[in-house]
Amino acid sequence: MNNDIVCICYSRSGKTRQTMAEIAAALDCEVYALTDGVRRCGVMGWLRCGLDAMRKKTRAISRVETPRPLWEYKLVILGTPVWAGRCSSVMRGFLKRRGYELPDVAYVITHGSDEPYREVFEQMDLYLQEPHVAEVSLRPGSTGYIFWRDQFLMTCAERTGCELLPVPEESETAETAETAETAETAETTRIAPNEETE
Ligand SMILES: Cc1cc2nc3c(=O)[nH]c(=O)nc-3n(C[C@H](O)[C@H](O)[C@H](O)COP(=O)(O)O)c2cc1C
Repeated sequence: MNNDIVCICYSRSGKTRQTMAEIAAALDCEVYALTDGVRRCGVMGWLRCGLDAMRKKTRAISRVETPRPLWEYKLVILGTPVWAGRCSSVMRGFLKRRGYELPDVAYVITHGSDEPYREVFEQMDLYLQEPHVAEVSLRPGSTGYIFWRDQFLMTCAERTGCELLPVPEESETAETAETAETAETAETTRIAPNEETE
């Protein structure tokens, strides 16, 4: 297990979690899921997400219990969906509260359209002591998804001096949207990629 890198993500419907599970598997590191305890499923949940993102409203975020303090990692990789052209309010809430503790940070954003949403990286940097060191903007299912994900992985590996493992097939890391939604009501969850297939 690579103890120099940790992945932390929020995912409403499972896409960002899937991407982060692939990234964590390739870097052989742990991935933790954030929640703010708010039910965000269904139409009302979707609307709440959009409004929270637009108003930059955040709530208390579940504690991320990593084995080492966050500032001791060589790299913290943060994953979030794009909501209304912004980072999710859950990730914003985490950054507001813990951003000052973070060492080198890399961003993974996922979105539904072809827009790259590069401005989201700058929005997220407002909560860090230093600007992020790597980034990737992905549309799950798009033609360039694997290429850009792998470029990102190579950057992370070079920065931290670790070796990359092969990225598992999607079926080995996949989870259902239902699992992602269920996790929102739970405490912050450590996700080991292979556990997700159970
Ligand atoms: C409230 C809300 C707002 C969204 N806004 C955007 C947007 O502005 N641009 C976009 O491309 N996708 C948008 N999406 C789509 C998500 O960013 C995309 O499906 C993402 O990959 C979902 O990640 P998740 O499954 O980890 O939650 C939005 C989704 C939600 C729920």
